[in-house]
Amino acid sequence: MTVAATGKAASLVARDAALFFRQHGSTPCLSALRAVGGSWLEDADGRRVLDFHGNTAHHIGHANPRLVAVLKAQLDALPFCPRRYTNEPAVALAETLTGRWPGRPARVLFATGGSDAVEIALKLARVATGRYETISLEGSYHGDGFGALGLGSARHDARLGPLLPGRHHVTPYWVDAERTLDEVRRLLAARPIAAVIAEPVRTSGHVPPGWLWPEVRRLCDAVGTKLIFDEIPSGLGKTGRFFAFQHFGTVPDAVVLGKALGGGIVPIAAVIADAAMDVAPELSLGHYTHEKNPLTCRAALETIRIIDEEGLVARAERMGALLADVVEAATGARPRGLGLLRALPLPPPWAGRAEAFAVAALGEGLSATAKGSDGLGLSPPLTVAEAELAMAAAALARALGRPVDRDRPRACSGRGRGPEIRSG
Ligand SMILES: Cc1ncc(COP(=O)(O)O)c(C=O)c1O
Repeated sequence: MTVAATGKAASLVARDAALFFRQHGSTPCLSALRAVGGSWLEDADGRRVLDFHGNTAHHIGHANPRLVAVLKAQLDALPFCPRRYTNEPAVALAETLTGRWPGRPARVLFATGGSDAVEIALKLARVATGRYETISLEGSYHGDGFGALGLGSARHDARLGPLLPGRHHVTPYWVDAERTLDEVRRLLAARPIAAVIAEPVRTSGHVPPGWLWPEVRRLCDAVGTKLIFDEIPSGLGKTGRFFAFQHFGTVPDAVVLGKALGGGIVPIAAVIADAAMDVAPELSLGHYTHEKNPLTCRAALETIRIIDEEGLVARAERMGALLADVVEAATGARPRGLGLLRALPLPPPWAGRAEAFAVAALGEGLSATAKGSDGLGLSPPLTVAEAELAMAAAALARALGRPVDRDRPRACSGRGRGPEIRSG
């Protein structure tokens, strides 16, 4: 999508465009930022927008001051830890994550990105089962590495060459959950499958019927296949449960967390998996330079503390219901989803033109992303204020061309709106 940045922001966007490889979904840049804070982005010329995208990484709000202070202290105390050494934040994070695990005893591995962590989970499933084939949902996304990328779709640009072998893609639950289950059942009966991997709840706001995951769990158990849930965007309270799978009473063999785990500041992802899968100490499964980086582990630990101490999981559920109500009142359409992982189904004439609608919403002061061709993702931080939900709803109504209550605050398009945020 294209929007016209101006001033300093436009100049940075132009310099960026001359230097970075172009790629789908990342270029051209929308604008250039100089500051972020809470639910807000501020561009290089001081224009602010509400950030209901945040790459689903800003659960505790952008530049959370408590996290920033803790990270500064960690930089002074211990900024790095080479492999084969451990450190207090890494061990404490492992204890915290395994302590949350509602299943059998668990172990962890950490990586710097979600895609890498997905591949760790695949490796664990392979070595634990002695199989390599996978089942995933057609049209899903699990990352950009050669392994994770192939899980998303059966079809890929031939120029990328072969991806992992043994991938099977089934009809996704957001198209037809009965078919998802039926196709999983047939494949598990016919093929030696190492793992079924899926997002338990999708960032597009699609939520499967309550019976799907318990049934898939039962089918996997019957043939010794591992069930992996990718909660990179949906975990850590976003849906109103610490783990999204807790909505369904189904514990997977492994869950992958990422994005918000680093507090929206540093990159860290994690795999939490059944300790019974710890069967290949002679192999490297996630042997990464920053696997126990004390700064990234400290960020994750503090992020979870903030989520706990500020009651953000329950808040996500409460504010998510409010978001659905205020957006429905303003737009006439009710966002689907759970907690603060929502998407607005676009009414005519915007249905089928989600990218264009995202540009229109941005013009009204709301950053949000297209979900498919007829949905707009709405993913504010768990710290979002009620007034910010009202501003977002008003921005959506304006973008849809609906009359807006004049007493409602206008989502920003200039300085002096929203809280003070840190300038870079
Ligand atoms: C469901 C899901 N899985 C995996 C990833 C990949 O995470 P990362 O970009 O950190 O590699 C993403 C990123 O958007 C995601 O949404």
